[in-house]
Amino acid sequence: MNKAIVTRIKILRQQITLANRDYYQDDAPTLSDAEYDALLQELQTLEAQYPQARTEASPSQTVGAAPSKQFAPLQHWSPMRSLANAFSEQEVLDFIQRMKKLTSDDQIAFSGELKLDGLAVNLFYRQGKLIAAATRGDGESGENILANIRTLATVPQQITHRADPLEVRGEVVMTYADFNALNEKQQANGKKLFANPRNAAAGSLRQLDSAITAQRPLQFYPHGIGVGAESLATKALSHSAAMEWLSTQGFTPAAPRCRSTDAQQLLAYYAQMQTHRSDLAFSIDGIVYKVDDIALQKKIGNVARAPRFAIAYKFSAEIVTTVVEAIDLQIGRTGVLTPVARLKPATVGGVVVANATLHNIELIAEKDVRVGDYVEIRRAGDVIPEVLRSIRDKRPAGATPWQPPTQCPSCQSQLRRDGRATRCDNRHCPQRLYTQMQHFVSRNAMDIDGIGGILLEKLFAAGYLHTAADLYQLNKEQLLSLTLIAEVSADNILGAIDASRQTTLARLLFALGIAQVGENAAAQLAQFFGTLDNLMQAPAAVYAFIRDIGSETAASLMHFFADPDNQQLIIALQQELKWQETFPPAHSRHYPLAHFFSALALFKNYVAEREKAALPQGLGKRASAQLIAAFASLNELQQADCEQLTTALSGNRTLAEQVHRFFNTAYYRDLLLFLQQLGFIWNNDTTAEDTRALAGKTVVITGTLAGLTRTEAKKIITAAGGTVTGSISSNTDYLLAGENAGSKLQKANALGVAVLSQQELEALLRT
Ligand code: IVH
Repeated sequence: MNKAIVTRIKILRQQITLANRDYYQDDAPTLSDAEYDALLQELQTLEAQYPQARTEASPSQTVGAAPSKQFAPLQHWSPMRSLANAFSEQEVLDFIQRMKKLTSDDQIAFSGELKLDGLAVNLFYRQGKLIAAATRGDGESGENILANIRTLATVPQQITHRADPLEVRGEVVMTYADFNALNEKQQANGKKLFANPRNAAAGSLRQLDSAITAQRPLQFYPHGIGVGAESLATKALSHSAAMEWLSTQGFTPAAPRCRSTDAQQLLAYYAQMQTHRSDLAFSIDGIVYKVDDIALQKKIGNVARAPRFAIAYKFSAEIVTTVVEAIDLQIGRTGVLTPVARLKPATVGGVVVANATLHNIELIAEKDVRVGDYVEIRRAGDVIPEVLRSIRDKRPAGATPWQPPTQCPSCQSQLRRDGRATRCDNRHCPQRLYTQMQHFVSRNAMDIDGIGGILLEKLFAAGYLHTAADLYQLNKEQLLSLTLIAEVSADNILGAIDASRQTTLARLLFALGIAQVGENAAAQLAQFFGTLDNLMQAPAAVYAFIRDIGSETAASLMHFFADPDNQQLIIALQQELKWQETFPPAHSRHYPLAHFFSALALFKNYVAEREKAALPQGLGKRASAQLIAAFASLNELQQADCEQLTTALSGNRTLAEQVHRFFNTAYYRDLLLFLQQLGFIWNNDTTAEDTRALAGKTVVITGTLAGLTRTEAKKIITAAGGTVTGSISSNTDYLLAGENAGSKLQKANALGVAVLSQQELEALLRT
């Protein structure tokens, strides 16, 4: 291999790496597809000719951008879910019972394994080769950390199993010994100490320079398989066999594990592990039980973000004693005051704790916690530490009961009691606006980097900020006038504000800081309603159809959107932001009639008294079943007259009249119309087929799309049931061609693959 070729290969790799970064990280392609393809092809040809030049790090071997700069997002092949928690034996027994019932199998086997306290990572294998690795991220896509993962000795780069594709999921952890050694080194070098092994593992894995990761001792322990489980030998189609199988492929599943059909044995394993917890090399925070049979797992399915077939039984948290030095009040974004105990720093579960929540003002009196008291505090996982009780015997003489305030410490308005909470109702309370804004810019909300802390305070003080929408009117002069900031960082901040203009409905909903609406609820609402207009117009009863939205959350949403100030804020934000909306919401809503009746049974929790009166009384399980049996669809049921209803309800005329009146009450008629607009169809044709516009279709994207990044386009296509792949073949259904489409367009034409313009795709999605 002569020098000219070595140089050429080097140049090609550099060019491709740069192009990848522009494309994947910055969403600003600098090469046309054709130019890119030509470079890649030349590199592949040279690497084929000169095998000695091949390296795993070549951009021909990786996907996405070089993870050594900023990490590129990477979509998981199948979603990475979280786990539901259990905190008592009873909850585990209930889980086991539920699984037995669901599968009608009394002898169903469970696997039990350690719940490692680390970072979830997804490894992607193609034809036995590790080609990508991602953090869990939001479960749909994470950050591509391949270069860093390659430095882990416990992650095989190559496995013998060739079936394609294969995702291996597991946890990256640092052992206690390695953690202590690392912190000693950090201290010796005057560097920041890590709070616990989990933080150390996270910090090490998210290094921009993989040379640093390589120096950090990290371990990977697999705990599951994403796509590709079916490709294992039939005997491996249980979770525990899959774990065994993974050890034949060079992985090291964490031990000890257990497998049993007997609840008592499963619980004994938990007890044993809890006692021997400190003997393990790494930190665990519980035991995970999973239905062992993978086919059954699939059948049992998922609830929202977690599989229904698994549960994490958490260890109870460590309790420590320390002293209360002060009690402060924090004002949350919804105006609720939370008392916080400032503590003499103490180490709980490996972490130094200096503040702990006292939950609410009423509780301080109940627990009689006083400044100067010795208190027991507890910290469970990532949960905020809390004060459990004060120790009376150790109370210093002269400690006086804490006096609850009557006025807001920030704006002096009169405080109001609301159940157990104490509120400041002043919507212009500075502290409250400040916390709201802090929440608005936070990472999982609008993700505006660089605004927070003192800067935010100063912006308020200068009168530049009143509502979140004002952020988008800030200019450089204003930022510089605060004398906090250099010219460059002012530009950076304005850049971050600008970047946040492109967002998602879910993020926006979360950012608005509506009481009870956390990230999960926001995501569910966005998915359910598709557009903000739909959400704002929703009648209360609609919320009975959204799994995780209870009546309190529903009431809070109605209250929020009825407020003229909030309406004004939304109008202002509409001018500034651009979020992706999907109408109708992109998923199939073809349900059996019984589904409607289970929601109907919940209506009473959501609607106002007047609407409650129009609900049929005594429409229990039996009567519902009669109606389901007599009518093929909700449409038919809606149109039925009293005679037909009476017959269906075996002569119960009173109930029939009530049902008839219900369907003909304006409120409920409108509700059903609204639901129909959201795509709901109820009938007893149980073959609920996937009616999404791109169900089962394979789509390839090429060229530049107008106002849409690739990631966004991919999300839209996936939500409509399609799969996005990288290269065109005769199996491709559509090529989505944007501006400056290159070789892929030619290939599509040659293969007779249908080509869609962006407009055509949008039209298709509207159908
Ligand atoms: S199974 C499909 N097994 O816990 C079920 N997760 O709290 C999803 N974790 O995100 C994961 N040890 O990162 C599973 N033995 C284990 C685990 C485990 C730790 C983590 C995992 C997950 C989180 C949920």
